[in-house]
Amino acid sequence: MDYFKRTRISKILLEDAVDLNQTILVMGWVRTIRDSKEIVFIEINDGSCMGNLQAVVNNPGNFGDLKRMLTGAAVRVEGTLVESPAKGQKYELAVTDLQLLGEADQSYPLQKKRHSFEYLREIAHLRPRTNTFGAVNRLRSKIAYAVHKFYQERGFYYIHTPIITASDCEGAGDMFRITTLPHNAAPEENGKVDYTQDFFGSETFLTVSGQLEAEIAALALGDVYTFGPTFRAENSNTSRHASEFWMIEPEMAFCDLDGDMQIATDFLKYLFSFALEQCADEMTFFGTWIDKTVRETLEHIVSSEFERLPYTEAVKILEKSGQKFEFPVGWGVDLQSEHERYLTEIVFKRPVIVYDYPKKIKAFYMRVNDDEKTVAAMDVLVPKVGEIIGGSQREERFDVLKAHMEEKGIPLEPYGWYFDLRKYGTAPHAGFGLGFDRTLMYISGMTNIRDVQPFPRVPRWAKF
Ligand code: 4AD
Ligand code: MG
Repeated sequence: MDYFKRTRISKILLEDAVDLNQTILVMGWVRTIRDSKEIVFIEINDGSCMGNLQAVVNNPGNFGDLKRMLTGAAVRVEGTLVESPAKGQKYELAVTDLQLLGEADQSYPLQKKRHSFEYLREIAHLRPRTNTFGAVNRLRSKIAYAVHKFYQERGFYYIHTPIITASDCEGAGDMFRITTLPHNAAPEENGKVDYTQDFFGSETFLTVSGQLEAEIAALALGDVYTFGPTFRAENSNTSRHASEFWMIEPEMAFCDLDGDMQIATDFLKYLFSFALEQCADEMTFFGTWIDKTVRETLEHIVSSEFERLPYTEAVKILEKSGQKFEFPVGWGVDLQSEHERYLTEIVFKRPVIVYDYPKKIKAFYMRVNDDEKTVAAMDVLVPKVGEIIGGSQREERFDVLKAHMEEKGIPLEPYGWYFDLRKYGTAPHAGFGLGFDRTLMYISGMTNIRDVQPFPRVPRWAKF
């Protein structure tokens, strides 16, 4: 199939790594084809980069297939790489051989015109071939690499945490159940479904977070991180929520909230710098076609000091703002994205880390502060998106953890192992979760989470 003989277009256009005047083989898909007098021009894209390679056919009569090479067709092209005399491209391919590998007829949906993102979601099997989704997919891959690079270079170990779990980390109850019991004839015991007869012998769910298992690993390996899919059955149909999303969760033994905030700051800045420096092809595209301010926004964050603000102060600022919010603020209520955006966009004009949240509104595992009303939680808020990171120092004291869980009405029995970590060699530790998809929205300027995930899962949508 000549797979190893082919030259990727990125080698030619991005890396400038191919010598002129030699014969090369390119395989890709036709973006456009047009003829002018006796010459045919074919724009070929092979997915390796943004740019198309222009193939020039000087003797179209020699290639019988040419008439069937329409937009969308897969082609195999051999030719000589030459400097292009025309404006708009540096190189072009003077074609010596041309083969049609896979036809696409007139019904191919991606004809040369702009399509709405809504429409493209319906054809998620074809949208990766568009400029926008090519760029999104390449960015996703590169930023995933940057995530690993950041932690590996700092001596963190990558931990695979389970996707199927019996514990509810966030305690929010918005989990997808996993079961093999027949849904209309499940065995019952005392009027309740008898999960001891289920596949795993107990109730199981898709995980909402890898944190609890990451804590196990941190209390053995020191510094660890997870990077995997998580699932939430909350019925929030917003542009920033997905039912399946990827999260990066570092967990550090012997670390407190202050250290947690520091690593979160360094991590975000690292990813944004990486995008600016290593994803130039994609960033140029996003800056031109999606949001003119993306580069500026990232540069601003990389160079700014993140504000650190106790929750109580944040609430005071919001109360005094005189701003009319859809959701009223007051001590004890969770911040909504309108509040978060007000703090970052209007008040501080840079990222803000809000910390020490009321105990009542946060998860059971967060460390109780001396005031007994707040916990050592922190959220990193950024302009335009609001919360991008949620984290905390974990409760390492056995008795305090137990009392806190009882107060929240969480059954202790399933968490025996979690208590063991506090019983045997407990140590202060902290961590956080960064939403990977929200990070990509931020970098690209794409405003809907459905358009940075290859195959989004959101309420009422699980196609492909
Ligand atoms: O704040 P969250 O719920 O934190 C946790 O899950 C902790 N266990 C993390 C930890 O301390 N290890 O979620 C963390 C981040 C959020 O800040 C947000 O960026 C993202 O995950 N996130 C979502 N992204 C897309 N769709 C959703 N439905 C999301 N819910 C949370
Ligand atoms: Mg959160």
